[in-house]
Amino acid sequence: MGKLSVIAGKSSEELAKKIAKRLRGSLTSVQNVTFPDGETKVTLQGNLSNQKIIVVQSTNPPVDTNLIQLLALVAKAKETASNVVVVIPYMGYARQDKEFLPGEIVTMKMLAKLLGGIGASEIITVDIHSKVGLEYFKIKTRNVTAIPELVKYFKKMNLKDLLVVSPDRGGTERAAEFAKSLKVDYIALEKQRDRKTGKVQIMTKDVGDISKRDLILVDDMISTGGSIVKAAKFLKKQKCGRIFVACTHGLLVNNAEEKIQKAGVEEIVSTNTIPGKTSNVDVSAIIAKSI
Ligand code: R5P
Repeated sequence: MGKLSVIAGKSSEELAKKIAKRLRGSLTSVQNVTFPDGETKVTLQGNLSNQKIIVVQSTNPPVDTNLIQLLALVAKAKETASNVVVVIPYMGYARQDKEFLPGEIVTMKMLAKLLGGIGASEIITVDIHSKVGLEYFKIKTRNVTAIPELVKYFKKMNLKDLLVVSPDRGGTERAAEFAKSLKVDYIALEKQRDRKTGKVQIMTKDVGDISKRDLILVDDMISTGGSIVKAAKFLKKQKCGRIFVACTHGLLVNNAEEKIQKAGVEEIVSTNTIPGKTSNVDVSAIIAKSI
């Protein structure tokens, strides 16, 4: 038995196995039973004995179900271990980090209190939407980036006169880092989102001559695909070459994948912070390294 235990939450089972293997830790699986009223009973498949326990569970959809299971696992781990490292590869609610409209609850603030209160010693996450959310935690937090792993994937492709594009100004830093690793240029579009309806518009009018250039649209996450669809349609109008999409977290809800393909995107590449059809990039090495 290794010196540390990894608890594989159901939303991140495969990733947790990979992390445990890299850390030479023992792996504890979880069984969930959902009762007719919607409650989940979470059961550990084995005993915990190590003083250091890593809990791995993303809070992707169903967000609240995965969140309550994460909290249950952390509380259980704390009964045995003094050191409970909580790995939340995809941190749901990270976009709710400010009171954008009066009365809105800053859910990240509440989550920070909850996780700290039930005994998390440290939080590790990957490409959190905004680092503001981490400022609410009183315990140590670390945000690791999947950009180098995503870049490796694209380096193997034969892309022509490549340009990296962020669909919004908020993603400028990310696009710059991506472009720097690929030794190419980048631009950021201007996106406007209606805070009440969620509707997205691209406000940029001119991006210069991008005709026939291959593009990688880079974002932290794709949820409904609205941002990427609007950006891809705009870029296609500028007569660009092929469009590829790179993101860390491919939530891809409401047929997002189909909508993005219809908008003219060749391929969507995401990581296994959320397992799915497009999650071809593995983040277990960067997470294991941070532990
Ligand atoms: C927003 O600023 C984020 O970085 C993403 O662009 C956004 O959350 C993606 O959501 P959707 O796919 O629904 O447009």
